[in-house]
Amino acid sequence: VDVYFLFSGLIGRSWAMVFAAGGFKVKLYDIAQQQLTSALENIRNQMKELEESGFLKGALSAEQQLALISICTDLKAAVEGATFIQECTPENLELKKKIFGQLDLIVGDDVILSSSTSCLLPSKLFTGLKHVKQCIVSHPVNPPYFVPLVEIVPHSETDPSTTERTYALMKKIGQSPVKLNREIEGFVLNRLQYAVISEAWRLVGDGVISPTDLDLVMSDGLGMRYAFIGPLETMHLNAEGISDYCERYREGMRLVLNTFGPVPEFSGEIQQKINQVNTELINAV
Ligand code: NAI
Repeated sequence: VDVYFLFSGLIGRSWAMVFAAGGFKVKLYDIAQQQLTSALENIRNQMKELEESGFLKGALSAEQQLALISICTDLKAAVEGATFIQECTPENLELKKKIFGQLDLIVGDDVILSSSTSCLLPSKLFTGLKHVKQCIVSHPVNPPYFVPLVEIVPHSETDPSTTERTYALMKKIGQSPVKLNREIEGFVLNRLQYAVISEAWRLVGDGVISPTDLDLVMSDGLGMRYAFIGPLETMHLNAEGISDYCERYREGMRLVLNTFGPVPEFSGEIQQKINQVNTELINAV
């Protein structure tokens, strides 16, 4: 029997729902019984609402999916029989290291130890663990129930079979995994996101465009393409193939890119200006 074991915060609950929708048994572990009880209650409500609105994932009913989820406050008992453990504790290196240290002492040689971390590198989390070959990062995007991407990031000592098994599992539960060949700060999603954010910040800060119009460039322009295809495929389709695109736009792109400014401070006047505009916008809704 496949058993999965998680923590029951925001991301843990969402993962639990994704795994249950995929037909897998899920065991939720947390430090407090109260946290687990309210997590189950929350999952039940979410599943019922999704079922009523026709958005429940998977072939099973909400009741059948709920029956797959159990709770446990004893780490050793929670891990027993698990084949895949998705850690979802708060984003705190010391805490995560402590949890993986504890797991390292009690798990067997087959189980995969996977972390949901958004930005802690596998080398920081897993180095020195006896079971490092079985350790990996599976970084979801919030909310994983609706956004399928999972960034799979191995430690340099992660066994390739761990990466392959994690990738296959994510596919099986209907997520969209991507593999990084090595760890890098920000993984890939946040590197792309920060590239966009920093140029947006500079353009607003330099007075080139207002914050509202900057956002429109994405929501009514670039974002419409990127909702369907990625930047590399877009290049390919914007010309007669990527070679033609590079021939045509290489010089222009380099010219523009060479005018990019330094990494912004993300503070001060520009922050206040963006805050003011967005607060007014949100309040007007
Ligand atoms: P959260 O604060 O909602 O949940 C954390 C859970 O860990 C809670 O259930 C809490 O009771 C439990 N916990 C706290 N101390 C513990 C301990 N000593 N032992 C066991 N459990 C403990 O956090 P959230 O947002 O669910 O984040 C979890 C992980 O997922 C973080 O690493 C975060 O970076 C990552 N992540 C979060 C995303 C988000 O948008 N919230 C997106 C992608 C990844």
